[in-house]
Amino acid sequence: MTQTPRRNAHELFDERVEQALVEHAKELASLGSLARVERLKRVLPRELVAAAAELAELRMRAGRKFARPERAWLTRKGLEQATALSVARDRASQVRELGGSLEVHDLTCGLGADALALAAAGCSVVASDVDAVTLGCAARNLADHVEHAIAVRGDALAPCSRAAFRVLDPDRRASGERSRAADRMAPTFEQAIELARAARGACIKLAPGFELGPREWDTLADLPVRPSWTSLDGELMELALWTGAWAGDGDGLREARMLVSKGEAPVRVRRGGMRAVTPWTDEEAGRQTVLVEPDAALIRAGLIGDLALELDLRPVGPDIAYLAGATPPTAAGVRAWRIVDSAPADPRRVREMLAHHDVGAVHVRKRGHPDTGEVLARRFAGRGKKRGHLAVARTAGGHRVFLLEAMTEGNSVVGDEGFEPPTSSV
Ligand SMILES: C[S@@+](CC[C@H](N)C(=O)[O-])C[C@H]1O[C@@H](n2cnc3c(N)ncnc32)[C@H](O)[C@@H]1O
Repeated sequence: MTQTPRRNAHELFDERVEQALVEHAKELASLGSLARVERLKRVLPRELVAAAAELAELRMRAGRKFARPERAWLTRKGLEQATALSVARDRASQVRELGGSLEVHDLTCGLGADALALAAAGCSVVASDVDAVTLGCAARNLADHVEHAIAVRGDALAPCSRAAFRVLDPDRRASGERSRAADRMAPTFEQAIELARAARGACIKLAPGFELGPREWDTLADLPVRPSWTSLDGELMELALWTGAWAGDGDGLREARMLVSKGEAPVRVRRGGMRAVTPWTDEEAGRQTVLVEPDAALIRAGLIGDLALELDLRPVGPDIAYLAGATPPTAAGVRAWRIVDSAPADPRRVREMLAHHDVGAVHVRKRGHPDTGEVLARRFAGRGKKRGHLAVARTAGGHRVFLLEAMTEGNSVVGDEGFEPPTSSV
């Protein structure tokens, strides 16, 4: 027996169904998945229920990516890969700042999150995607921007427009599993760079952990390029390669862009990067009074060596992205802590230190230690009345525990997660 292929919601829904979904949005959001299906069965023809239930569920999860999630047309895979709203808006505002012609072709538009932001910023956008269902969703999502955007089904490898500028966000799940590998993306890294070369300027979005190794730099040879790592509220979001005229005056520089969802202006740091700085010895690390946690974008961009030299700081240990020194930094994108005390990471010595400061339960951030923050917090907890913040870091002489007091607010959430910088970045 042949099975009818499952069709996506946008192919099935008519205006009446869309209206029903919007009308019941609040109620549907308050229900569990089974109850939601039962509720939809009462208002929709049977064959529409599964797709409608999926769309209702995806809309509830789309707030970080679409300005009007309750009206967005979504597929599960498309939503997973769509650019976060703040990041898409930041990209669009950079495009506006870079000026020139504002005709942009988004060659792999997916559900259209980037294309929407570009159109809303006043660019003339051609949005295309090779997948018919995804493109159908994008066309509907762009419907409010008809003066600025058209959606056309097409293969990025044979672009259907003459727009001078291109945006490319290759599919990282083309093979079904998420991948960072250059040749498992669709289009591949090499193909994306060729498409960028043929444009006056381009922006290629890549996974934040994408490694720009010798092979990738070879592919980029002679093309002006500004690699830019973006974080949102301290979480690393993407690496974007701005090429050709869009490298702007950043050709050859590495950039970190740090965004906050509260709406403050993004912080941008651009430097040559990859500068080596001698770390403190263990004993020297133990004498420092300020510990500095750079934002994940600065670390990934390989900018903490530059930062350390500018702020008169040094890493607490070899290849460790905690910086320490004597002067609280005023730089953006870093979180500073006062070092109240420190001890080698021997539980007895740490508990003695905590007893001296009347500290009991602790919250641990860590770099270069194989155990989790939770395990370390249990291992080192003292008996005092106060709650303490500890940083556990690998130093030149083993591991050291720093007792901390916050000096500046920061977004850096990566310390607890065991995120390690590329070893060459310090
Ligand atoms: C990561 S998603 C794009 C997400 C989009 N930037 C957004 O924010 O919604 C990648 C898209 O590339 C499309 N794609 C893959 N290969 C393509 C090709 N050769 N031509 C056009 N689109 C392609 C996939 O169908 C997928 O929708």
